[in-house]
Amino acid sequence: MSLLQIDKVTHYFGGLRAVYNYNLKINPGQIWGLIGPNGAGKTTIFNLITGIYQPTEGTVSLEGTRLNGLSPHEIASLGIGRTFQNMLLWRHMTVLEHVKMARYSRLTYGLVGAFFGTAKRHREEAESEEKAYHLLKMMGVDQFADQIVTNLPYGAQRRVEMARALAMEPKVLFLDEPTAGMNPEELVQMMEIVRQVHREFGLAIFLIEHRMKVVMELCDRIQTLVFGELIAEGTPDEIQDNPEVIDAYLGKEVVA
Ligand SMILES: Nc1ncnc2c1ncn2[C@@H]1O[C@H](COP(=O)(O)OP(=O)(O)O)[C@@H](O)[C@H]1O
Ligand SMILES: [Mg+2]
Repeated sequence: MSLLQIDKVTHYFGGLRAVYNYNLKINPGQIWGLIGPNGAGKTTIFNLITGIYQPTEGTVSLEGTRLNGLSPHEIASLGIGRTFQNMLLWRHMTVLEHVKMARYSRLTYGLVGAFFGTAKRHREEAESEEKAYHLLKMMGVDQFADQIVTNLPYGAQRRVEMARALAMEPKVLFLDEPTAGMNPEELVQMMEIVRQVHREFGLAIFLIEHRMKVVMELCDRIQTLVFGELIAEGTPDEIQDNPEVIDAYLGKEVVA
């Protein structure tokens, strides 16, 4: 059984067909990339899998559990973590609070625990804080732990967002253009972070990416989406040499 399986997903926004007959099978530990021109439907696919939108047709399942009809929160707690193309961070919260809050939804005190188990709760909170620090350190932003997140430099905010996604202990991590707006130095650092996260947590990763260099270097397999339809799927070498991909996409991009 695949970790994540998507069968024949189609999605309409009113009369606009944003995604058509989309399929995907991710196995544990794989890194997948999704490329395609602006407006191709990439973010919509993430939103369909993470419960922000419901597919008009088709099914999504994680380890055999059907995700159709579940809320974003339920899907997150089943094991899909994500970051957003336009970051969603809360203005008045510190960096540490962001990551801790994500972890709370993961903790179960139980009814009895909620009334009598203060010792247990303290222990869990201490553990939660320790894990949050570990993630911030891994992302290289632990020095900002007590600062308001929106005061951080852009690249650092993106790392906090990733730490928050990881705090939910996902089985698959979805990254929507993780290197968007980054300079070359930040880009290289972000790629190293993705590799490190993959090594340390053994997660499957699914990333939307604009820059070819990033997908080519990081991914085991790549899909190419154009006007909501997959036109190719394969290894980085296969994608790079695919005439349809070159015609539809690569030919128009500066291959960095
Ligand atoms: N909430 C929405 N309502 C209506 N149309 C949308 C919505 N979200 C995206 N779209 C449209 O769906 C298409 C795919 O968008 P998107 O998934 O954001 O593309 P990508 O991430 O590949 O750039 C675009 O034509 C976009 O305008
Ligand atoms: Mg997008």
